[in-house]
Formats: sequence, structure tokens, C-alpha cells
Amino acid sequence: MLFPDYRPRRLRKNERLRSMIRETTLSVADFIYPLFVTHGKGVKKPIQAMPGISQLSTDLLIGEIKEINNLGIPAVLLFGIPKKKDERGSEAYAKEGIIQRAIREIKNNVPEIIVITDVCLCEYTSHGHCGIIKDGDVDNDSTLELLARMALSHVEAGADMVAPSDMMDGRVGEIREYLDENGYEKIPIMSYAAKYASSFYGPFREAAGSSPQFGDRKSYQMDPANSNEAIREVSLDVEEGADIIMVKPAIAYLDIISRIKEEFDLPVAAFNVSGEYAMVKAADKLGFFDGEKVMMECLLSIKRAGADLIITYFAKEAARILGGKR
Ligand code: PBG
Ligand code: ZN
Repeated sequence: MLFPDYRPRRLRKNERLRSMIRETTLSVADFIYPLFVTHGKGVKKPIQAMPGISQLSTDLLIGEIKEINNLGIPAVLLFGIPKKKDERGSEAYAKEGIIQRAIREIKNNVPEIIVITDVCLCEYTSHGHCGIIKDGDVDNDSTLELLARMALSHVEAGADMVAPSDMMDGRVGEIREYLDENGYEKIPIMSYAAKYASSFYGPFREAAGSSPQFGDRKSYQMDPANSNEAIREVSLDVEEGADIIMVKPAIAYLDIISRIKEEFDLPVAAFNVSGEYAMVKAADKLGFFDGEKVMMECLLSIKRAGADLIITYFAKEAARILGGKR
């Protein structure tokens, strides 16, 4: 059907008509909200490049969790800032580590919120890399055991799901096996399956204090130029037992989200990362565009590309808009 028989504008006449034929809708049930937890009491340390986001001590965290829960956001993703860093990232798998304490605190107060934990050593190691260093490089196989211990310690503290973000080869299988051996076969793994070596993580490294002290992460995170490699990475994680597969970052990698959604029959999550949040906030502050509208458009694009779940620092703001609570 061609013009003048077909006129696409007929169905764009007004908002009611447009909403009837809308193909994608965002829902608060899609959101996962990332949080940064730190030791101490009454600590709220704002992140410069991420307006509205702060490191919180566990006491203040509870108020935040209640607010998130009241907004209908089903899940949070926890990142921890340890008291002390060392070569092997010991606090990452310590019973009294910051994340382990935070999980127990959350589960004592708001047990229904789904607690997902980031499993990676970079916030806890003195060198800032995601694994153990051997001969100047991150050693894959000796890191696996520590990641598995970290995942188990989170689950023992009450975590509902673990999310390995380290990009070591074989870690999903190792974590799955270790959780199963310890009786936690019901705990799902959301794997950062296609995680790129991206400069969009800049503000996060300030937020989590996790910049590598030498070199970069290119020997373990993926080359932004690659798309077929994402398929290979995701295939491995699926084989090893991942329950949800994640693409990260989101906005600059919508083509990857869409390919992964097409090729795999598992729920797909996308991480709308710190730099993507910071860009919108900065341009909004400068008056260059309407930040709220750009935020909703970004989230919608991620959903339209094929993400079932969206990990986003915008979750609270977007939930308020979707719920008409503003
Ligand atoms: C840790 C980790 C990072 C992010 C999530 N987990 C940083 C990195 O890999 O350097 C980035 C999240 C964001 O930028 O919002 N491995
Ligand atoms: Zn890491």
C-alpha cells in the first residue's frame, strides 16, 4: 500500500490513538536500581558526576530501600566500598564485609525486595583489578575460586541472586557449581555476559572507588568493536548455567541487545551505566535538552531493543513518572 492510499499520519492524530498502537511500554517491574554501600553510620557521600546518587551507610540504606520498594521497583543491585583493600580483595568474601552486612540489614527490614549482588573483586583489591594479579596480568583461574567464595558469602547472608561482572572465563560455571554444592541450587545467576571495556564506566569508578591502579581492563572486558564475540561470550555463560544474560553498557550497545535477544531464549538484562546517566544529567543541567524526556526515551530504546530488565540509576525518577507520582 502506497501513498495516497496509505497515510501513516492517520494513526498519529492524537495521543489516545498513538497510545493504542504503541509497540513498547516501560514498566516499573523492569527496573533494577544500583546502590553503593559503605561502612559507618549516617554516611551519605554524593557522587560528583552522578547527581542524585550517593554512597550510603547501611543505616541510611534502609530508608532508601523502603522508598525504592514503595515505588514498586522490584530489585536492587548492590556494590560495596570496603574498609580496607588488599591484593586478594579479602573483604569481598568476608562474613562481616560491607555487602554481607548490608544484605542482612536489608533482609531484616524489607525482606520482600529482591537483593542482587555484584560479584567482582575490583572494589576490594588494592590494585583495582577484577581478579588476582600474577606476572603483571589478571590471572583467570586463581580468581575463579575467590569469585565463587564471594558469591556464596552473599547468598549465605541472604542475597536472592548473584551477578558476576568480572569477565573471567569460566566464572559462571564455577559459581554455579559452588552454590549447588552448598545447597543453593535455587539461587539464580545474572551474568554480565557481554560486558565491554567501556569508557562509559568513568563515573562508576569514582562512585565505587574501583579504578585500576595500572593498565586497563582490556585483557578481560570485550572490545567495543566486536559483535560476533558477544554471541560467543553469551553462549558460554548460557552453557555454564546463567539464568539471565546481561549486556553492558546499554545505550551505545543497543545493536548487541537486539542480537542477543534474537539469538537466545533467556531473559536479557541491560545495564544503563554510570556514564550514560551522567551525560543526560549534565546536558540537562546545562539546559541543552529536557533531561526527563531524554531519560524516558533512553529507557524506552533499551526496552525496544529487546531488554527484559533494565539496570538503571534512573529507576526511581522513571518509576515516579510511570506511577504518576509527580
Ligand atoms: C565492576 C563493575 C563496573 C561496573 C559494574 N560492575 C565497573 C568496571 O567494570 O570497571 C560499571 C557500572 C557503571 O558504570 O554504572 N566490575
Ligand atoms: Zn570488576
